[in-house]
Amino acid sequence: MAIDQKFINQFVNVTSKAALASYHLVGKKDKIAADKAAVDKMRTELNKIDMEGEVVIGEGELDEAPMLFIGEKLGTKKGPKLDIAVDPLEGTNFVANNLPGALSVISVAEKSNLLNAPETYMNKISANVSDPNIIDLDNSVKKNIYNLAEYKDKQPSDLTACVLDRPRHKKIINELKNLKVNLKLITDGDVSGALLVTDQKYNVDIFLGIGGGPEGVLAASALDAFDCFFQCRFLFNTIEDKNRAKKMGIIDLEKKYYLKEIITGDSIFCATGITSGDLVSGINIDSNDFTSETLITHKSAGLKKIIKIKQKI
Ligand code: FBP
Repeated sequence: MAIDQKFINQFVNVTSKAALASYHLVGKKDKIAADKAAVDKMRTELNKIDMEGEVVIGEGELDEAPMLFIGEKLGTKKGPKLDIAVDPLEGTNFVANNLPGALSVISVAEKSNLLNAPETYMNKISANVSDPNIIDLDNSVKKNIYNLAEYKDKQPSDLTACVLDRPRHKKIINELKNLKVNLKLITDGDVSGALLVTDQKYNVDIFLGIGGGPEGVLAASALDAFDCFFQCRFLFNTIEDKNRAKKMGIIDLEKKYYLKEIITGDSIFCATGITSGDLVSGINIDSNDFTSETLITHKSAGLKKIIKIKQKI
């Protein structure tokens, strides 16, 4: 069953209000306060919605309140059962340091249709290809780039790859450089990074590398609506990570996930800009009003658009 489109405005309101709450802390050099402001506002707004919501991707496990924790129940309990993935503040450094690209993000799916994923790292890859045989996490970087170049009828040197700029990606970055692929190295914010493949205007052909698992699942839900390619594999480095994963029902810790194993059925995704970035503009305050820009997708309605709204503060 599709998620009623009346929820779109309500979820846009949630990420817009959370974005505004965090916006007040832009440049204050306080990641924790900026995150807490977004979390608190997101919880308050989500609890006003007529739904039986449950957080499946959150900011920590049970008992770690005040974060929106995995298993937390949200909403008035008077509506449909929904699974919710949240990242109230994606890019804590961006807000703390007044840098571009901070977002407030939510994804909502029908009950039991969104992967219940632990907070751990994930190896991920996204591209705007509909043929499932072009890109694969288990291919070498070279093979993926050659396949993608052929698929897009381009040279590797015409392609752009987005990668989180981290020491762990030194090898990938060097391989891409040797293939003469153009690099877009981001300092943070790989929900946005993974979504830059969705539209030619961003000029990114492939996103790859290791980042947060929750961020990967959130990006996957929007990529599903855009009919893009996404694959991932969780990385469980410690015994605690492995035990937590098993408790969440993940049996094969090496499993490679395809998009359809992360999200199925209908979904709504909203990402509102806090500070202006590649994807959307940030919050703008004008006396008693604020304007927010949100990327929305609604899978069943084929909706994929960026909207700007003005509201009273
Ligand atoms: P936060 O907003 O939680 O700080 O996450 C920012 C981020 O850049 C994510 O977009 C990304 O998935 C993750 O951190 C990468 O983690 P790390 O900084 O440990 O490499």
